[in-house]
Amino acid sequence: MLTVKDKTFVPFIDQSTLNARLDALADQIDRDYQGREPLLVVVLNGAFIFAADLMKRLTVPCRVTFIRVRSYEQTASTGTVREILGLYESVADQDVILVEDIVDTGLTIQEVRSQLEAQQPASVAIATLLHKPTALKTEVELAYVGFEIENRFVLGYGLDYDGLGRNTREILVLQE
Ligand code: IMP
Repeated sequence: MLTVKDKTFVPFIDQSTLNARLDALADQIDRDYQGREPLLVVVLNGAFIFAADLMKRLTVPCRVTFIRVRSYEQTASTGTVREILGLYESVADQDVILVEDIVDTGLTIQEVRSQLEAQQPASVAIATLLHKPTALKTEVELAYVGFEIENRFVLGYGLDYDGLGRNTREILVLQE
């Protein structure tokens, strides 16, 4: 059990389950990218631990770079603007694997994907540790999903609550 600020979190996905799933995901990526050199584009901050643990397991030659997404409300009619920060190299002709911690509504990753696609990469695939299918608000193709989970708030292994709680080896869930 872990208390972060006013909330209590209980164990959800333990270390050995996580490790086994990461092994399987890495095997799948290795197979799919034989003969290519993918570029992992990691969405900070939440995905940094997942990305590191995944990349350690890959044997295909690969590169990594990190981006942030800044979201802000413009007007009620134009809605939320999501801007990519920190992508200084071109992804043109690259085999991009976008690495996310969690796809919730899917709006963030979908926007990132379409902005990257404007640079004409050779391919774009999304790898996410977690996915909440019932929260999806947009069609988004996820090539690699660690775990599909119910629509509950999770924490740890990179995921935060108000900036805290990222530093655990397992994933926890908000106690109901
Ligand atoms: P969305 O898919 O655009 O709704 O947003 C995904 C982002 O919301 C993720 O990258 C996380 O930063 C954050 N997020 C969504 N669900 C959770 C959760 O259960 N715990 C922690 N962060 C979450």
